[in-house]
Amino acid sequence: MKETLKDRCPILTFADLGDERGKLVVIEGERAIPFRIERVFYIYDSDDTVVRGQHANRESEFVLINVAGQSKVRITDGKEEIIVELNKPMMGVYIPNMIWKDMYDFSSDSVLLVLASTHYDDSEYIRDYDEYLKCVEKMK
Ligand code: TYD
Repeated sequence: MKETLKDRCPILTFADLGDERGKLVVIEGERAIPFRIERVFYIYDSDDTVVRGQHANRESEFVLINVAGQSKVRITDGKEEIIVELNKPMMGVYIPNMIWKDMYDFSSDSVLLVLASTHYDDSEYIRDYDEYLKCVEKMK
């Protein structure tokens, strides 16, 4: 059966080691997520008027987690589109390389944690959607 975009970008549920003292969520690279973590960044103080992301990455894989508040991510491969609402600290979405993503609808308390498989390299970002579509076409 053909792999769908949803299959390629699974929702991940992380171990919750919480107890009566509070919650504890653990994410280990190459275990809970399919890559070694080289970079961590987080986005906050965004709101429901901005759209972030708007790029694809030639190399980087990501996992997005709203550790507080909520946001949405629109994910497309140029053909299919899925929208994931990130609203639980123990849930994430895996986004492989060469997938276009837009993050938006941030709640005022949103803290969007991003785990990445690479160190930052601006040259591997594709920030033009038409260029992205051309690259996808070439990969076929
Ligand atoms: P940008 O890619 O526009 O963020 P987002 O995907 O959340 O919309 O990045 C904003 C700025 O920060 C841009 O100048 C590049 C820089 N940046 C780094 O230097 N390192 C990083 O790991 C990231 C994600 C961004």
